[in-house]
Amino acid sequence: MTLLPTADSTNTVAASNPVDRRVVIADHQTSGRGRLDRSWVAPAGSALTFSATVGPAVEPSAWPLVPLAAGVAVAAAVRRAGGSASLKWPNDVLLDVGDSASKLAGILVERVGDPPLAVIGIGINVSMSEAELPVPNATSLTLAGLAVDRAELFGWVLEELDAALELMRSDRTAFLESYRRACSTLGRDVNVSLPDGSTLTGTAQSIDEGGRLVVDGPEGARPVGVGDVVHVRPV
Ligand code: BTN
Repeated sequence: MTLLPTADSTNTVAASNPVDRRVVIADHQTSGRGRLDRSWVAPAGSALTFSATVGPAVEPSAWPLVPLAAGVAVAAAVRRAGGSASLKWPNDVLLDVGDSASKLAGILVERVGDPPLAVIGIGINVSMSEAELPVPNATSLTLAGLAVDRAELFGWVLEELDAALELMRSDRTAFLESYRRACSTLGRDVNVSLPDGSTLTGTAQSIDEGGRLVVDGPEGARPVGVGDVVHVRPV
């Protein structure tokens, strides 16, 4: 494990020297990166930010499931911390606060090296105040009234990550069932921003064997592999 007071991005550090089962953790990131080329910002000491490099040892068709496994793991760890967590496809971790669900954690998975390893970057808002939240519809464990030690949470996430990746490798059907149980996007009306700049509107119908979100839209059911989902309204 590499523990850094400051890093530009733990994913970038991990990717610069990918080693199976290495974990890079930073107290503060100066250029944290998010999905879809976004930035990920957290004041020093306010979040759990780390990247775990793993050799998923899966057939190529299972690679898209790795980000989902990371989501399942973080949601399970947050539940161990006493929170009610769910996943907005593919792996935004939402925390129920009152009647609404706000983003608590984000995950960025990158494929590096040859043979490829997965760098699984995880950022969990632990003690951020309202003023420190990066976007309005976000929350932290502290804001939700959950007093959790970062080191303990870190241990839980690593344990759950091992378990989720193992299930993904050994029993894809059971793994996908566990993902579907955790995914609060299913059954909702959604707007999905697609990589070509278009938006798909419809109802999130299912998660297919490849981990894609199947959206029932104006032209029928369409599987989406990459996109940014907005939950339009509650079920
Ligand atoms: C997202 O929500 O778009 C994903 C955010 C991922 C943030 C984590 S923090 C640790 C790791 N290092 C990064 O630069 N990003 C990930």
